[in-house]
Amino acid sequence: MKALVLAGGKGTRLRPLTFTLAKQLIPVVNKPIIHYVMDQLKEVGIEEVGVIISPETGKLIREALEAENKWGFSFEFILQEEPKGLAHAVKTAQGFLGDDDFLMYLGDNLIGESIVPFVDRFKSGEGESLILLKEVEDPRMFGVAVIDDKGRIKRLIEKPKDPPSNLAIVGIYLFSPEIHDAISKIKPSWRGELEITDAIQKLLEDGKRVNSHILNGWWLDTGKKDDLLEANRVVLDEWVKRRISGEIDSNSKVVGRVVLEQNSVIENSTVRGPVTIGEGTVVKNSFIGPYTSIGNNCTIENASIEHAVLLDGSRVLGVQRLEDSVLGRKTLVQQNPQNHSPLQLMLGDNSEVLL
Ligand code: DAU
Repeated sequence: MKALVLAGGKGTRLRPLTFTLAKQLIPVVNKPIIHYVMDQLKEVGIEEVGVIISPETGKLIREALEAENKWGFSFEFILQEEPKGLAHAVKTAQGFLGDDDFLMYLGDNLIGESIVPFVDRFKSGEGESLILLKEVEDPRMFGVAVIDDKGRIKRLIEKPKDPPSNLAIVGIYLFSPEIHDAISKIKPSWRGELEITDAIQKLLEDGKRVNSHILNGWWLDTGKKDDLLEANRVVLDEWVKRRISGEIDSNSKVVGRVVLEQNSVIENSTVRGPVTIGEGTVVKNSFIGPYTSIGNNCTIENASIEHAVLLDGSRVLGVQRLEDSVLGRKTLVQQNPQNHSPLQLMLGDNSEVLL
């Protein structure tokens, strides 16, 4: 079995971060989302991994995966010139996929459960396709499935205004090569994309067996700022263990599950986990509260931060109670030392400030 990871697309919902960074490379607890995807593929014993990339961010994705290919995968990077849909991505990868069964994984999805049982079920011969579903409160922004009492898929519909069930399609699918024939028979949808949901619907119409597998653990589609903070919170909560490689001076208190990477320094500060702090970061005269991830080479001085994600090279100086925030790379947030001074901002496109 091969894997096809989709890391193309435009990632417009996470702008401005995604002007310069691929959505799949945004860190959750200081690790790019796509690395979690690779960890999962490793667990099921897959060796050949095709990665769909776009002209804009392909180079970055490639670097992030090849730099320290700790999974030992044989990667093939497949350029999709335009994001014309998930089924179009499969079509683009047809040369790589050949006649093999494959696992398709959307590169911006994060789940809190192993996919081994899901893959084992498919390997035991459960139909031409097996789709991972999750019960959600509001499925309108997802693909939605209707299943029968045996869990077989009866119907699929992409982003319905009036959802026929609350079973959302998680972006992880298993296919036999029959999917290629189904894709050749579909037309672009109203949003101009070749939809994988339409191709699966076509499989059903052609009398093929499509089964579902329900995900019980958490699933985070890191679509927007709050989703990213939530993903960060859940991963910190469930997976982070205390590990201190950096320095803590005697005037500081670092309590709970805190990861402090090497060459980082905590001076005269309190850090209350769960928190992760990357390499080469300095925290001075500050408070870092729960559910915060701070990247590499950041500076936090005379500040208090909680429930936030700070990307590499960001600086927070003299700011009290920075919360529920995401700061991009090399961002500076600084309190003006003069009282009653006007607000002075230098914000990139699509930035947001809540005062
Ligand atoms: O997140 C789950 C949802 O993902 C499913 O419920 C939907 O049925 C499915 O269509 C998909 O919907 P989205 O609208 O959220 O997909 P998005 O455009 O965000 O793309 C998902 C991933 O695939 C993302 O990492 C970018 C990549 N992609 C997307 C397109 C359209 C490509 O590599 N090429 C593409 O052409």
